[in-house]
Amino acid sequence: MHLGLEGKVVLITGGTKGIGRSMVKAFLEEGAIVHFCSRTKADIDNANSNLTKQFPSTKAIGTVVDVSNIDQLRSWVSSCATESGRIDVVVPNVSCFAMQNTAEDWQAAFQTDMFSLWSMIDAALPHLEKTKGNVVTISSVSGRDIDLTAPSPYGAIKAAVVHYTAQLAHQMAPKGVRANTCSPGNIYIEDGVWGQMERAHPEVFKGQMDLNPMGRMGKPEEIADAVLFLASQRASFVSGVNFVVDGSLCTGVQL
Ligand SMILES: NC(=O)c1ccc[n+]([C@@H]2O[C@H](COP(=O)([O-])OP(=O)(O)OC[C@H]3O[C@@H](n4cnc5c(N)ncnc54)[C@H](OP(=O)(O)O)[C@@H]3O)[C@@H](O)[C@H]2O)c1
Repeated sequence: MHLGLEGKVVLITGGTKGIGRSMVKAFLEEGAIVHFCSRTKADIDNANSNLTKQFPSTKAIGTVVDVSNIDQLRSWVSSCATESGRIDVVVPNVSCFAMQNTAEDWQAAFQTDMFSLWSMIDAALPHLEKTKGNVVTISSVSGRDIDLTAPSPYGAIKAAVVHYTAQLAHQMAPKGVRANTCSPGNIYIEDGVWGQMERAHPEVFKGQMDLNPMGRMGKPEEIADAVLFLASQRASFVSGVNFVVDGSLCTGVQL
């Protein structure tokens, strides 16, 4: 399937680890120009030099940005547009994984997972209108099913991400801008949440692993592939969906 992503300008937050890192690579493999960010300068420097060597025929441009700093985030979006001349796809991917039912975690989840997502999209929308581009937000199965961390802000805010993305899709459809969500199930990443859980709480990890009917957790590349499809021209009539990629972990029927 030809995705038609060559030369498209794609913005991804949280691009140096986990699902974000896989998405950066996958878009580069399709010939897209990829701007990505994270907070750790050493990781950005490494990614910039490795990706430039690995993908000499396109461009990977990593920048240090903390998405919870809204001024910094908006100014990054605007500098990406200036540097690459356009924006075709935005993927707000960062979460602060706020799992505690405390005021601090509720505020952090709103700021990092929701307000930064809204701010990034808001800053990019005038550019997306010009390119008839699209948005892919990253939610979670925790936004659909009540999970083992409940009651906590994580799932509630992830549900809000799905709701907002569907509203956006409806509002922007007449202008040719699409918006979809991808909701990963349990995605195993050595230096990510499940790798850490496996080392710190092996019994909790095993309990969660056992819930996965395929007998395994997902790979970050499996989420990247789904996001690539949603962001591509092959999904030109797909807007407002919540694409759950979880190996059938969720048992509810999504109507
Ligand atoms: N892993 C799963 O099982 C799973 C399941 C469902 C949904 N998801 C969702 O998928 C998304 C990615 O998760 P992941 O597991 O891939 O995460 P991850 O492995 O922890 O990677 C997070 C990335 O985001 C960056 N980051 C974190 N906070 C940031 C901030 N404030 N500003 C800028 N960059 C920041 C990190 O780099 P720095 O720390 O250097 O900034 C890193 O590059 C999240 O929205 C998560 O909710 C994940």
